[in-house]
Amino acid sequence: MTAPGHPATGADFVVVANRLPVDKKVRPDGSVVWKRSPGGLVTALTPTLETRSGAWVGWSGSASQDGSPEEKPDVEGIDIHPVPLSAAEVEDYYEGFSNATLWPLFHDLLVKPEYRHDWWEAYVRVNRRFAETAASAAAPNAMVWVQDYQLLLVPAMLRETRPDLRIGFFLHIPFPPTELFSQLPWRTDLLEGLLGADLLGFHLPGGAENFLTLARRLLGTRTSNGPITAREDFGAVEYDGRTVKVGSFPISIDSADVAAQATAAADRAVAIRAELGDPEVLLLGVDRLDYTKGIDVRLASLERLFASGRLDPAKTVMVQLASPSRERVDSYIDMRNRIEQMVGHLNGKYGTVARPPIRYLLQPVARDELLAYFRAADVMLVTPMRDGMNLVAKEYLAARADLGGALVLSEFTGAAAELGEAYLLNPYDDRDVDDAIEAAVTDPAEARRERMRILHDQVMTNDVDLWATSFLDTLAADA
Ligand code: ADP
Ligand code: G6P
Repeated sequence: MTAPGHPATGADFVVVANRLPVDKKVRPDGSVVWKRSPGGLVTALTPTLETRSGAWVGWSGSASQDGSPEEKPDVEGIDIHPVPLSAAEVEDYYEGFSNATLWPLFHDLLVKPEYRHDWWEAYVRVNRRFAETAASAAAPNAMVWVQDYQLLLVPAMLRETRPDLRIGFFLHIPFPPTELFSQLPWRTDLLEGLLGADLLGFHLPGGAENFLTLARRLLGTRTSNGPITAREDFGAVEYDGRTVKVGSFPISIDSADVAAQATAAADRAVAIRAELGDPEVLLLGVDRLDYTKGIDVRLASLERLFASGRLDPAKTVMVQLASPSRERVDSYIDMRNRIEQMVGHLNGKYGTVARPPIRYLLQPVARDELLAYFRAADVMLVTPMRDGMNLVAKEYLAARADLGGALVLSEFTGAAAELGEAYLLNPYDDRDVDDAIEAAVTDPAEARRERMRILHDQVMTNDVDLWATSFLDTLAADA
């Protein structure tokens, strides 16, 4: 069945995400450059869309000038449909409702979410614009894949005008328990927005199960009761005369590509260590600067390990590559100040002029350089308080085809569910953090290598294509 008024042409596969794969940067002289967008969503979806050729509906990352047409970047193999946002919408929909309401609520209330009706109104308006743009980009009976927490209302909005479409939705962040979700004054609208989809995907079975409980409690709908397992056993919600399928699809990376590029960067990795003074131990952190990532947790642990003599600051270097993120949101400004204060303190107390133990950058690093850092690091520190998946952990493991290095990983990441051979830690327990980092540094080489062999294989086998294919095959089934 097709709805009246939809286009006769258009793409058979459409991705709808808040961000386009490239980010618009305006130089001081007014010229425009497009750069890779930040974050794991774009990392995962770009290879997926390149191999499936389709359309991508998203925002350029900059506020648009009133009246001026949206520029369209040229991205090979992808038909780009930019969605304009005004400066006020960037504040209310993106920085406000998406990143000061939903993001902290879905990440265990690490900061207090703000509930503002004016932000909600902007969120509804912008979601409608994304839905309209997607509807005009999609061919009859196309498959449309909506992404992440910025667009929770889009599935139902799309179904309203285009019931012919097959609609999937994937959440890239954790899905909270009913007790937390219910704080939202707009909880029913958001739940009904999601239920417009045919298939709802979460990273972990736990998130999918939280969703089923929520649907049951909030709407009194009938749901399945059986356990959900990754890619195999699904749940279902009976809603509005339809069955909405619910599943767990742990996201991943283009593992073969990362492994090949990291191997090609082996010489640069040696040069990086030399530039850092050939330290005995090189620790690495790579994150968007976000309070969920626990950058402060690892710095606080280093302070304790240096103070107690368990690690020698003269022989240790930690490189923290942080990428600026959501820079006008208060909680991000606070976290940045806290981290920079800790870096200054550690270097002041434990460094020499020639050799500060912490090297900190607040700028995105080029992809080949990042992979060289992965290849150079003895220990990768991934210590979030909460993270939907964490692709940095998987990139590090794929990059270590040489079976060198060790991964320290928070249990509060989605990745921990698949990566049990990592040095796992509870970031809320100081002693556990210190012990895990110390063990990753000091364990015998053969034990570390054995862990890495298992972890590297896991990531090489479970790549982003498995994620996308399993989601899209499930969406296409029963169409
Ligand atoms: P999130 O999606 O919350 O940002 P992920 O770990 O899932 O976290 O994905 C982050 C992505 O951004 C990865 O592909 C990672 O390589 C990239 N990234 C993170 N920090 C930097 C940085 N400082 N420079 C360049 N890329 C970065
Ligand atoms: C996480 C979110 C993505 C988001 C990315 C970068 O990965 O799940 O939806 O795009 O962070 O954040 P930003 O706010 O810069 O898009």
